[in-house]
Parts: sequence; structure tokens; C-alpha cells
Amino acid sequence: MTNPELNHDASRVIIFDTTLRDGEQSPGATMTHEEKLEIAAMLDEMGVDVIEAGFPIASEGDFAAVSEIAKAAKSATICGLARANLRDIDRCWEAVRHAASPRIHTFIGTSPLHRAIPNLTQDEMAERIHETVTHARNLCDNVQWSPMDATRTEWDYLARVVEIAIRAGATTINVPDTVGYTAPNESAELIRRLIAEVPGAEDVIFATHCHNDLGMATANSLAAVEGGARQIECTINGLGERAGNTALEEVVMAMKVRHDIIPFTTGIDATKLMTISRRVASVSGFPVQFNKAIVGKNAFAHESGIHQDGMLKNAETFEIMRPEDVGLTATSLVLGKHSGRAALRAKLKELGYELADNQLADVFVRFKALADRKKEVYDEDLVALMQVEERQAEDRIRVEHLRVVCGTEGPQEASLRLSIDGSPQEAQATGDGPVDAAFNAVKMLVTHRAKLQLYQVSAVTEGTDAQATVTVRLEEDGRIVTGQSADTDTVVASVRAYVNALNRLLMRREKGGPDGREISYKDVG
Ligand code: KIV
Ligand code: ZN
Repeated sequence: MTNPELNHDASRVIIFDTTLRDGEQSPGATMTHEEKLEIAAMLDEMGVDVIEAGFPIASEGDFAAVSEIAKAAKSATICGLARANLRDIDRCWEAVRHAASPRIHTFIGTSPLHRAIPNLTQDEMAERIHETVTHARNLCDNVQWSPMDATRTEWDYLARVVEIAIRAGATTINVPDTVGYTAPNESAELIRRLIAEVPGAEDVIFATHCHNDLGMATANSLAAVEGGARQIECTINGLGERAGNTALEEVVMAMKVRHDIIPFTTGIDATKLMTISRRVASVSGFPVQFNKAIVGKNAFAHESGIHQDGMLKNAETFEIMRPEDVGLTATSLVLGKHSGRAALRAKLKELGYELADNQLADVFVRFKALADRKKEVYDEDLVALMQVEERQAEDRIRVEHLRVVCGTEGPQEASLRLSIDGSPQEAQATGDGPVDAAFNAVKMLVTHRAKLQLYQVSAVTEGTDAQATVTVRLEEDGRIVTGQSADTDTVVASVRAYVNALNRLLMRREKGGPDGREISYKDVG
């Protein structure tokens, strides 16, 4: 059977999003089941061609998420990851087979370092590849195969195993730069050479999967496309382990804005980029750096006098794309304390949140409280408020009351009341500053051994009455969790973020296993 994906227009690049697999598997970025479903629906809606929804063998939770995403998908192909063994592949198929267009993605580490782990000879590994790809192809017409760490695999061996995978029925060959080691020229040349020299290459799509360890993931992915790859694997906000994966928004906009020299197209509706970027940042707990290309807070800000002057005369002086091209509407004064529910509902809808009546009622109460404290409520304030609402919806521990004493003199003290499974518990503590005192009070009420890995504060908008967004990352026995909150009071936001992280830790402890997973894709299958 010929590969239907080859019927694509030759300039069309398939966008394969792995936010929910490679992105989500990065320590601390774990999402809940509902969050995964929501992100998958957004990816589908924005025109992603293939969604890698998870690693079904990793845990019951991963399996359930991939199955439900497969059932709900409207137009995207739904893919699951499987190591090179029959059990992984069967489990993957069980999850993705519900999709109208399913794909199995199976992989094995082919570089000398990776071959040493399962202790397979080159011939034994080649045999394993033949057996597993054949098995996957007997289950599913659409099979992707990846030689993990391809960019550090000996050329002869790489060409040999790619040919074996093609003969066994793989329809897409992905060429991962697993450790972010390659550079643009090499990335293009590797794909070009595989296409030119491997028998059967003309029958498959070549994909590029880059990590950003040297900051070259976007450049390497686009270079691979120049070399003949027609699938880019990427994540929203470049989420992913270590320095992350190729950022979807960057490759999509590069092909749009520099179509004159990168003449390729995608099916992505770029006006949805900003909304999905904010959602992924919120549910993963990984904030987007301010100067991040395309979706960073400063990406379209023109602060300096010279820039502002130029911008007023002609926006093209300093802008190569318009904010609205990526879905950024002008920051506007949205609502005030006299605004009603209908206005709030309409504004939230514009920001990508559709609420049922009961949800709107809860949000309205919080919005009014915010509008009472803050003169001007901006889009960003509403997004922060929604993020807090969603992150804390299932929290068993909640902050009911907090009072801190701080200043230049005397001990810094905190009095705290938490509601733990509905029962109020109180503590007083001192510390080195108000945040430390308040965190010590939390520790007296919630026993844990977690270490604070990250405490980060950023202002949502300008002004001294701005809300502070606080991110807290904790690690306990290999489980990494992230908590977030926002408030006009930085100490309140800090304690709520800490408590939110502890709630996630409780959930993770109940699920068992480090990071809630029994198996990582790095385990040899
Ligand atoms: O980076 C990598 O090699 C991967 C593989 C599992 C494709 O994510
Ligand atoms: Zn990867």
C-alpha cells in the first residue's frame, strides 16, 4: 500500500506535536487527565496534523489519556509512543486504535551509547527493529519509527536500520537529535543523505525531532526540512526535558514570515498560538520566558523611545509580524468593578475560556474581589485569575486565612489557617522574612520531606497594584510537582502556590511511582 501522507503537496510540512508526551514527560510538567484532554482538543482545533498524546505503557493514567484523546480527536492523527517490544506496542495500539486516524510510534536508541544499555549487538538490534516494526505495522497502517540519538549514530548503521524499518513497513522515519547535539548544516545533510542513499526512502516521510540543548532546535528543524524532511516534531512553548524541544510557534511563524526563503506551509491556524501558549504554560507550570520568540510577554513590546517613535510612524519599522497574526489582541482595559456577568463571560470567551453558568458564578466572585483591590483589570489579570481557578479546583488543602508581620524591626511572623479536607487547622511560625515565616507555618500543618527547587515571582501587569504570579516547584522522592497562584498580595500568592504544589504532591503520592509513572521512555524495554 502506498503511504497516503506522501500525497501531500511537496511544500506542506506535517506538524507533529509532542507537548503531551515529550513535553509532559519533562520533570515537573506533569498535567492532569482533564488538562491533557483540553490541550489535545486545542491542538486538534488549531490544525496540528499529528498529536503524540502520550506513552500508553507508562501508567494507567497515560493509557487512559491517550485512549480518550483518540476517541475525542476530530481531525488530527493520534499517536502513542512505544519502546521496541511487543508488549509496549500492543498497549499503544489498544489506546490509539480508537482514533479515526491512529499512529503507533516505536523507537530504540541506536547510537553506541544507547546500544550498550540493552547490551545488544548491531545485528541483534537490527533484528529487534525488524520484528517490532513488523508487529506494529500488522496492527496499524500508520507506523512511525525512530532511531533515538540518530545524530550520534554511526552513518552506516543508521542507514542500515532505517532501511530495515522501511522494509518492515514504517511509514514515517523520524530522525531524533535526542541530546540537542547537531547543527543546521549537519541536520540538513543527514536527512538529504538518508533520502538519497537509503533504498525505499522515497516511500516514507522523513521527520525531524530536535532538542534545544545548544539553542539550535528551531534552526535544526528548519534545516532538516530544507534537506527533505516533511514532518517537524515540536511542542508548544518548546516545552520538554532539559532545554526543551523545538517550539511549534517558532517553526510555524518562521515558515510564514520568511516564506520567501523558507517556502513551506503548515496547516496551523497561527491566530491560536497565544491562547494555547498561555494554557500550556498554566497547566504545565512552566512560565514562558518574557523574551521568548513569538509568545513571550515582550515579543511585541516596544519599550525604548526610538522604537516607540518608529512604531507610531509605521508599525513595520520594528515589527516583522503583527501581534494579531499570533492571536495577541491589544492589551486593553477590560472590566471594572461595575462590570456584570455578561461582560465577564464575553471577555473570557474572547480569551479562550467558555464557562458553564456555575463556573462563571465562582469566577465572578473572584473577579469582583480583584476589581475591588485593583483599579484596572487587564486581559492578563483575567488569564491569571482563570489559571488559579483551574489549578486549584481540586485542591484538598486550601488557604483560609493568612496574616503576616514584617518590616525592618522584630521577628517576621505568620499566622495561618488552612482547610485540610474541610477541617480548619491553624499554626503560627516565624522565619527569615514574611514568605519564609508563612512557608514554615505551612510545614507545621502539612508534613512532607519535599525540597523547594524553585520559587519564582513575576508581575502579571505593570504598577504597584499588579498581581504577582508565583511558581513553586517541589521535589520529594523523585516526584517533582509545580504549584502556581496569583494575587495582588505577593505573600498570599506565594503561600497559595506552595499549598497548590503540596496538593499536587498528595495526588502524586496516591498514584505511586516517581512522578506518578511506573515507566519512563528512557527505560529500556
Ligand atoms: O528525543 C528523542 O529521541 C525522543 C524519542 C523517543 C523519539 O523523544
Ligand atoms: Zn525527544
